[in-house]
Amino acid sequence: MRQPGGMNLNHPVPIDSVDGLMSLLADCEDAWDTPDRSGDPVDILDHGLQVAAVLAARHPGDEELQVAGLVHDIGHRLQPGDEAGHGEHSAAAVATLLGQRVARLVALHIPAKRYLAATDPDLALSPESVRTLGCQGGVMTPQEAAAFETDPDFAAAVALRRADDAGKVVGLRVPGLDRWRPVVSAVAAAARP
Ligand SMILES: [Fe+2]
Repeated sequence: MRQPGGMNLNHPVPIDSVDGLMSLLADCEDAWDTPDRSGDPVDILDHGLQVAAVLAARHPGDEELQVAGLVHDIGHRLQPGDEAGHGEHSAAAVATLLGQRVARLVALHIPAKRYLAATDPDLALSPESVRTLGCQGGVMTPQEAAAFETDPDFAAAVALRRADDAGKVVGLRVPGLDRWRPVVSAVAAAARP
C-alpha cells in the first residue's frame, strides 16, 4: 500500500517537502485512529486541525508546538493499527522536515498522556484514549513522572497533550489546512540546516 508521495505505508520514510506533508494531511480526511472506526469520533485531519487551533489560541508564540499538534497523529495513517507506536511513527516522518523539537513534541504526546494520567485526577480522557493507555505503557510511576518533569520540553509536551484531549469535538468548525501551510513552511524553513 502506498500513500501520496510514493511512501510505503508499511515502512514510513521521512517526508521530504511541505507539499508532501500537506498532501499527507489532506489524505487524513476520513482516515481514523483505528481502522474499524471504533476509536475517537473525529478523523485524523479534523483532529489535527482542532489540536492546532487550540494550541494557536493558548500558545500563539510557539509555531513549532502548533505544527506538532497538527501532525502528531499522522502515524495512525502511516501505520494503521499501531496504537503504541503511532507517536514515534509520526515523529520519525516529520523529524527531517520540521526539526528535532517538533519531532520530540510529537513523540512525547504519548508519555505526556501517561504523565497526566498519573498526576491529574481531573484528566478527562476519551474512551479510546483510556483503552489504549495500557498498551502505551500505562500510568507513569512517581519516579517516571518526576523524571518527565525535568525534560526541557515537558511544559510544551503537556500543552500538546491537553490540546489533544480537547481536539475531538464532532462538528467543530476550525480553520482548514490552508491556514497552516504558511506556518508549516516557516517551521520547515527554520529547521533547514
Ligand atoms: Fe491525538
